[in-house]
Amino acid sequence: MNPTVKLQTQTFNNVPTLPDSYVWSTTPSESPCLHSIDEKQVPPVVDIGDPSAFSLVRDACEKWGVFQAINHGIPLSLFQETEFEARRLFSLPTEQKQLVARLPEGFTGYGLVRISRNFPKLMWSECFGMIGSPVEHASQLWPQDHAKFWYMRKLVAVMLRSLGLTNEQDTKWFEPKNESDRAKCFLQLNSYPVCPDPDRAMGLAPHTDSSLFTLLYQGGINGLQVYDDGVGWVDVQPVEGALVVNVGDLMHIVSNGRFKSVLHRVVVNNTRHRISTAFFYLPPWDAKVSPLKKLVEFDHLPMYRQVTWKEYVETKSKDLSKALDSIRI
Ligand code: SIN
Ligand code: FE2
Repeated sequence: MNPTVKLQTQTFNNVPTLPDSYVWSTTPSESPCLHSIDEKQVPPVVDIGDPSAFSLVRDACEKWGVFQAINHGIPLSLFQETEFEARRLFSLPTEQKQLVARLPEGFTGYGLVRISRNFPKLMWSECFGMIGSPVEHASQLWPQDHAKFWYMRKLVAVMLRSLGLTNEQDTKWFEPKNESDRAKCFLQLNSYPVCPDPDRAMGLAPHTDSSLFTLLYQGGINGLQVYDDGVGWVDVQPVEGALVVNVGDLMHIVSNGRFKSVLHRVVVNNTRHRISTAFFYLPPWDAKVSPLKKLVEFDHLPMYRQVTWKEYVETKSKDLSKALDSIRI
């Protein structure tokens, strides 16, 4: 049993004031977020059912590293069911959640988000994670209905085609022939309980995802913010049925820095319990990742050396902000 998890879960239960261990010195209120109505200053909403979406996806990934995908063909009811189940899981008694507590280095199980150990203060959130190949997940999560899980593939195809890489040799690990080579998927359910002092707390500290990309369903409650060099922190306002697509470090590497991995964080509120569901699309541990030849030739200079995926994740878990720089040529 992990004692940190126990402390943290009990803290959420109707405490009137924010405990010291959750008070951040740099808080969302000190770095105010832009609540913009100018659509040039927020990540775009892209209709990926539209055949001309590729250039919009490309532009969004270059400028923001994030966009909201609509018309992706996945029924809203699937997300709603997932959110409903997540709310049920998070409301289980602490003792029951502890039974599946995640090991400190692990991915699967209940606990604090993995990046917690990189920050001195605690975050106002808890999560359930699960790692495996999409096929393994499908059989565990939706035994009667595997096909639904495969919506990921459509987004993979859109992202690859946006890079102009559908037939590329060196994308083998994105769409491998053998089941055992398949990219892994990390599913994480996040819970951000109602917080007594949201201005001094942090739901999720600023970070980039390590994944190729991340698909996020954020329900109808605000909280996700992305950082833009020009404008600062910007809300990603929930759009009904949309999936937020984040560019992760791996996409940043394979695109030779052209698609940027987006810095993001989550702020909390004092009225509503926010739930989000994130799918991180990852290569197998032993995959060798580097800027893809085609994109380097286009750019002439590879910016990153080759690294195994495992090595990259281990480097990042020691220092979130230095991992990309550590493989810079
Ligand atoms: C995440 O960054 O993994 C989750 C973001 C969110 O809850 O909106
Ligand atoms: Fe994230």
